[in-house]
Amino acid sequence: MRFSIVCLVWLGIFVACSESNGQGTLKLQLIPVPEKVSFGEGVFLLDQGVGMEMDEGQELERCGELLNAMMLGECGYQLQSVKKRGKMIRLRVEEEATDRVSESYRLEITPDGLDIIGGDVKGVFYGIQTLGQLLADPQFLDEKEKGWRLPVMQIVDRPAFPYRGLHLDVSRHFFPKEFVMKCIDWMAFYKLNRLHWHLTDAAGWRIEIKKFPELTRRAAWRAKEDYLGWWNGDRRYVTCDSAGAYGGYYTQDEIREVVAYATARQVTVIPEIEMPGHSEEVLAVYPELGCTGKPYRNGEFCVGNEKCFEFVEEVLTEVLALFPSEYIHVGGDEASKAAWKVCPKCQKRIKEEHLKDEAELQSYMVRRVGKWLKSKGRKLIGWDEILEGGLAPEAAVMSWRGEKGGIEAARMGHDVVMTPGAFCYFDSYQADPQTQPYAIGGFTPYLKTYSYHPVPEDLSAEEARHILGAQANVWTEYITTSEHVEYMIFPRLLALAEVVWSPEARRDREDFKRRVEKHVALLRARGVNAFKPSDRVEILTEPEESKQQMKVWFDTERYRPEIRYRLNDGEEQVYTKPFYVKDSAVVRAAVYDEGGKGGESMMRVDYHRGIGHKVAYRTRYSGAYPASKEVTLTDGFRGGLTYSDGRWQGFLTNVDVVVDMGRVCDLSYVSAGFMQLIGPGVYLPDYVAVSVSEDGKDFREVARVKNEVAVDKKELVIKDFTMSFQGRGRYVRLFAKKHSGFQFVDEIVIY
Ligand code: ACM
Repeated sequence: MRFSIVCLVWLGIFVACSESNGQGTLKLQLIPVPEKVSFGEGVFLLDQGVGMEMDEGQELERCGELLNAMMLGECGYQLQSVKKRGKMIRLRVEEEATDRVSESYRLEITPDGLDIIGGDVKGVFYGIQTLGQLLADPQFLDEKEKGWRLPVMQIVDRPAFPYRGLHLDVSRHFFPKEFVMKCIDWMAFYKLNRLHWHLTDAAGWRIEIKKFPELTRRAAWRAKEDYLGWWNGDRRYVTCDSAGAYGGYYTQDEIREVVAYATARQVTVIPEIEMPGHSEEVLAVYPELGCTGKPYRNGEFCVGNEKCFEFVEEVLTEVLALFPSEYIHVGGDEASKAAWKVCPKCQKRIKEEHLKDEAELQSYMVRRVGKWLKSKGRKLIGWDEILEGGLAPEAAVMSWRGEKGGIEAARMGHDVVMTPGAFCYFDSYQADPQTQPYAIGGFTPYLKTYSYHPVPEDLSAEEARHILGAQANVWTEYITTSEHVEYMIFPRLLALAEVVWSPEARRDREDFKRRVEKHVALLRARGVNAFKPSDRVEILTEPEESKQQMKVWFDTERYRPEIRYRLNDGEEQVYTKPFYVKDSAVVRAAVYDEGGKGGESMMRVDYHRGIGHKVAYRTRYSGAYPASKEVTLTDGFRGGLTYSDGRWQGFLTNVDVVVDMGRVCDLSYVSAGFMQLIGPGVYLPDYVAVSVSEDGKDFREVARVKNEVAVDKKELVIKDFTMSFQGRGRYVRLFAKKHSGFQFVDEIVIY
């Protein structure tokens, strides 16, 4: 009732949902974008004369303290909390403030005051964060008054998803608690509410357990800092006083401090204790918990051994005392079943428990630990492998190997957090790898994260209710410093924040670019090492078979930059709209801004004669990387900066394919793109050869080109193997000799 009256009053004053005010169009720069914004006439001057008033309650008072801390940071004064006449900021909870209570808020600004009305205290907190972003927006600053002139407006806002997460791996590299708290500050600023703390893994145990002090004494440091060198080399754990020791851990007092800090900022910290795999460091200290009884053999607990359950329960008992979170993460990913297959204890367990196989053995452990957690009033969450072999109904699944696990889990009635690698893994490259610090691979620019929809389309409404939200994961194999973590998180975390908070209809890719530019500047001004959106021009193409031409257009991460381009050696022109290439053209494009010309992108665009022609496979592509299967190599689309973009086709063998041109014709040119990224085992071929044939049986080799790129070059290489020749035939055979691991190929260009 009260809600509707309030709404009616506000409707009278504001133009609902219009984002222009009396002075013309006013652009807010809020991230995530709120559900509704409406402007009225006039401004509210927020200066030293403004007081603060709030309803009673400890939690609200804490919100008030945070607001005052924010004011102190922004302008050096606090709001007076004495009740008095005059202009006020008022904080209160009204359960009917919006139609969905938890975390929702209204922010109402009139010339006389500013009200933050939450559906609950969390809502008030998020209203304060929105105010914080308004205060950080230079367009509202009034230097003369040492305050802000905030436009009269109403914001009505609430989250799209209840789970809005960031994961941080502190095992591969260790980060001090102060940095974890800094992450929490920025999470809160962007309305994220779950910190998934990856505390244990092979690279180091990072949480003090009083019952097992040896875990941190002997497995929280490793013999060298360089993760890859350590993993592929000596791979020893050491004590902290050893020469060259790298590592660290959080004491229980430090953890309590972090959890309290997070709680005050509406962030729930979810600890992850890995099992049954990724536990090499535990088995180095307690080898009797592994199948062989010897350290440094494998990374899985022996599920046949009761002592493992005693160990896990004792560790978790201390973990539960530190973390009040509903969910406790038990990992569950990437466990090898090899040791279990030959372990008498594990085999005995399989027999006695009537388990089908080793997958069910893993499931036995997860179920048993889940049951134990349930008996303590908590719930289990784990990576999507925990689905294999069955799962207790109340357990939740984190879907990381794409969305498949999440979809399956939701259909089975489990709650799900989506964190598919292609959108949510912030350890992947965010810009052209050739311009970036070494990363694990992949290519996830912030606009890719921004394009994510956590609810897969093929779920029913009922199933979709199980999608709690999404999370960004920061694995730190190659991320060694806090500054580097910041660089990988921002601005991608801004994209995730909008994906999980804002209604889909309010998302706007172009406007997001504008806001990201502002927020990156803000973050950098406030000591966060955010990556500046790339000025690289992405050259995009799409074949138009009916007109035998290629449509070409440009995209960038920047907001409406000036782009100039050239075709072949032609004159430079300003880009305004898509254009078309018949045949072939070299396209060069660059952004121009106040700093001059940015880095030039170049691409040869071909509407080539092979487009649309059938390809026969003498060797098969890998089922893991089929791209668009049989049409991939002659569809006119080119693979991009990552082999998992659905354009590159992967082979574990030589590539040996034949394009049928449909009739005998003169042939003069073949080119094929390949990639090298040795981290994940992707290599250029040793050589590429082209043969032609009139009948599809007898082939004559007409050209061959050898690879000249070093096979140990660590950085990404994308290379066209290009051959000119004179030949005649109907069939064009492309053969690429495998060097090692995977070959990725796309597109075969034929003239
Ligand atoms: C994972 O990335 N192994 C969950």
